[in-house]
Amino acid sequence: MKKIVILGSTGSIGTNTLDIVAKFPEHFQVIGLTAGTNDEKLEEQLRVFKPAAVALSDKPAAARLRDRCGGASVNILSGPEGVARVAQLPEADLVISAIVGGAGLVPTLSAIRAGKPVALANKEPMVMAGKLMQEEARRHGVRIFPVDSEHSAIFQAMEGHRRQDILRLILTASGGPLWELSRQQMQHVKPEQALRHPNWKMGAKITIDSATLMNKGLEVVEARWLFDIPPAQIEVLIHRESIIHSLVEYCDGSVIAQLGLPDMRTPISYAMNYPERMPLEVPPLDLAGIGKLTFFRPDHERFPCLGLGYEALRIGGTMAATLNAANEVAVAAYLQEGIGFLDIADVIRTTMDAHAPRDVTTLEDALEADRWAREKAGMLVRTLVR
Ligand SMILES: NC(=O)c1ccc[n+]([C@@H]2O[C@H](COP(=O)([O-])OP(=O)(O)OC[C@H]3O[C@@H](n4cnc5c(N)ncnc54)[C@H](OP(=O)(O)O)[C@@H]3O)[C@@H](O)[C@H]2O)c1
Repeated sequence: MKKIVILGSTGSIGTNTLDIVAKFPEHFQVIGLTAGTNDEKLEEQLRVFKPAAVALSDKPAAARLRDRCGGASVNILSGPEGVARVAQLPEADLVISAIVGGAGLVPTLSAIRAGKPVALANKEPMVMAGKLMQEEARRHGVRIFPVDSEHSAIFQAMEGHRRQDILRLILTASGGPLWELSRQQMQHVKPEQALRHPNWKMGAKITIDSATLMNKGLEVVEARWLFDIPPAQIEVLIHRESIIHSLVEYCDGSVIAQLGLPDMRTPISYAMNYPERMPLEVPPLDLAGIGKLTFFRPDHERFPCLGLGYEALRIGGTMAATLNAANEVAVAAYLQEGIGFLDIADVIRTTMDAHAPRDVTTLEDALEADRWAREKAGMLVRTLVR
């Protein structure tokens, strides 16, 4: 029986993870759950899964939950520090990192520093401080298992092979809901349209990142640190059907891919129960029924965010944390304040141009760059909204 903590249990990855736990109660026991503000959903989850501790980063939400569940035998913590404490529960065998955004950095790093293996969906911390996270994981003898479907595919395609034989990692990208549009058409895209992903049901932020292709830019940075592969060996391939989740090319001409229907439970369960596979009973992959799979080169003109990911890696240090923070601010402003779709890339680009990068040797280096970039991007957004 594996004792697990889920950071971000009320989100899309979090609820998929709990579906797996519910299907295999003899394999997993939930001992900790965390969320941001959604106390009602967290309450439903704690009544079903009966964890020892839960936390909400929003203190008023935690107070509401305490009012309703004070009698239950669960420790209800609050604030970012409460979330970090749940991430370090001494009894945990595995921490599922599924908070969205840079807010996941401190709790995920706390789990690593407490010696807990991590199943990592929350890509933004790896973007902000990937080198530091890997150093800390090595220091504490902790493994980080990828949950992102592309990184899980690469992880699976690397199993049993020598790293020095790898020529290229090829990350596939669906192209998102706006792949067919011109720049001019993109200018007028409203959030409802950008949120309509053709293949995946995900949280709002990652769905907008898929529409701008920033998600792939973030994933290139994530792959660089997860697999310790130089950026020049990481490529992106547009594959509209999301059946091939990524590929690894070896020096003898072999290209190994992982395929499957787009269902996050597959990579989540692999990370949760590595190296064993779980009988998920997902519908079979009917390739003859699908008929053909299509591939395109990425279009950097229409989707500049992908190139910004590579550029952040080339510049190095705090630039990737800056890219990530500016993206979070711009996406939130697009969803809530009505800046234009194309403004997202402009805000990130301008923020990066204004940043003087330095090395990320401590957590504080990454957090300081994150704070700086949020302020700078916030100022840019205000000029656009006015
Ligand atoms: N969804 C996917 O299929 C998918 C695939 C690959 C990778 N990922 C990655 O996985 C991560 C989660 O994505 P998602 O789609 O599951 O996001 P989501 O549905 O928006 O869920 C986010 C979770 O994080 C919590 N949260 C938000 N802000 C927080 C804060 N400041 N402090 C603590 N918790 C906070 C939310 O709590 P509330 O509900 O209370 O707001 C929720 O539990 C992202 O990094 C994403 O890029 C997702």
